[in-house]
Amino acid sequence: MFDSGVGGLSTFAAVRARVPGASYHYCSDNLNFPYGTKSEAECIRCATDTATKLIERCRLDMLVVACNTMSVVALPALRARWSIPVVGVVPAIKPAAAGSKTRVVALLATPGTVARRYTDELIAAHADGCRVVKVGSSALVEMAEAKLRGEPVDLAVVRREIAPMFVDGLDAGVLGCTHFPLLLPELEAASPWPIRWHDSAPAIAARVAYLLAERAPRLAHPHLADAAARLPEAWFTAAGPSVDALKPALQKLGFGAVGVL
Ligand code: DGL
Repeated sequence: MFDSGVGGLSTFAAVRARVPGASYHYCSDNLNFPYGTKSEAECIRCATDTATKLIERCRLDMLVVACNTMSVVALPALRARWSIPVVGVVPAIKPAAAGSKTRVVALLATPGTVARRYTDELIAAHADGCRVVKVGSSALVEMAEAKLRGEPVDLAVVRREIAPMFVDGLDAGVLGCTHFPLLLPELEAASPWPIRWHDSAPAIAARVAYLLAERAPRLAHPHLADAAARLPEAWFTAAGPSVDALKPALQKLGFGAVGVL
């Protein structure tokens, strides 16, 4: 699995809880962080570079692009290049629209994701009849990274970033960036009124479980598979002090070795 940073760990946790018997490699592409302000062409280049490093080094059976910004632009290029299944994360527009009573939904994502045509197509296909407010934030991505390094989160900044979502009647919010579930308590505390937040992670976990069970039926029986699974390994694409600062959070999530690709 890979993301620009720690965001995809929210997806990783859901996938591993669902398929505990698989062996996982998680890569933070910190060399190219952040993805959310890059052009489509740059995203495709970064995704291809990182996937190449991971696939060559870790001999993967499956690749999960644990990032909405990458998934909405780079999946076709990755799937054309490798024959292993490539699973992407796209914003949970469909369940949010289906669950909204007021038909007013907000998408909170990176500036890149909110600007892409793919996102508009997703909204047109799955949120018909809803008002969908799109809000892009890079500050929240930085804050999720800081939180996992053990730094404090400034609720006033969270409040400022999400304020444009809260139009009259809003009752559903889409966590359209994998960094944002890591800030869920802060997002809830900073919301002017309670709304239901939707995360794609459970759907991704179900998709991975389905595909893995097809390829390795033993994984459907965690008691058989556990013995063979290794501790998850964390990878970075650049060394630096933030890698050390993240080690306690990675250990808490069950990671063993930490390395640089
Ligand atoms: N976590 C990512 C996403 O889901 C990207 C954040 C970033 O690097 O800007 O979009």
